[in-house]
Amino acid sequence: MAEMERTLILVKPDAMQRGLGFEILRRREARGLKPVGVRLLQVDEALAKRHYGEHEGKPFFAGLVDYITSSPIIAAVFEGPNAVAAARQTMGSTRPTEAAPGTIRGDLGVEIGRNLVHGSDSPASAEREIGIFFEGQPLAAWPRDVDRWTFEL
Ligand code: RTP
Ligand code: MG
Repeated sequence: MAEMERTLILVKPDAMQRGLGFEILRRREARGLKPVGVRLLQVDEALAKRHYGEHEGKPFFAGLVDYITSSPIIAAVFEGPNAVAAARQTMGSTRPTEAAPGTIRGDLGVEIGRNLVHGSDSPASAEREIGIFFEGQPLAAWPRDVDRWTFEL
């Protein structure tokens, strides 16, 4: 079996406003990834800048901070073998018009600045981002009876 990983998913404000929050989480769960942490929260400017610090100085940065702070979001941690790559693949390319059909962005979005969902881009990013969004909050480590049918344990 591939190494067990955790990844951070954010359901962005546009998806929450459009009533797609749980659909986006459902697609991860249906794929077999295991939810181990979920929060609904309002991102403030400081949190947005911490999370998206790598983009500071880019032309889209101010718009990105406005966007991610514009409504509550859901932050969720999913676990599984190859969780980072699987969640990125299910999310689709950053620009929805370049995202494959069947992906969240390819099926549900049209604009890069309203692309519905975030997923960590590496295990190291996931660790950093989980630390930001779940600071001081323990994640659940729980066995599922179906794990052996989903993961090659
Ligand atoms: P994310 O971090 O949100 O999961 O998205 P990503 O990895 O697919 O894309 P990334 O390059 O990290 O960009 C972060 C978010 O910034 C917005 N963006 N706008 N107008 C633009 O050229 C532009 N480029 C990026 C998007 O909302 C993207 O998800
Ligand atoms: Mg990114």
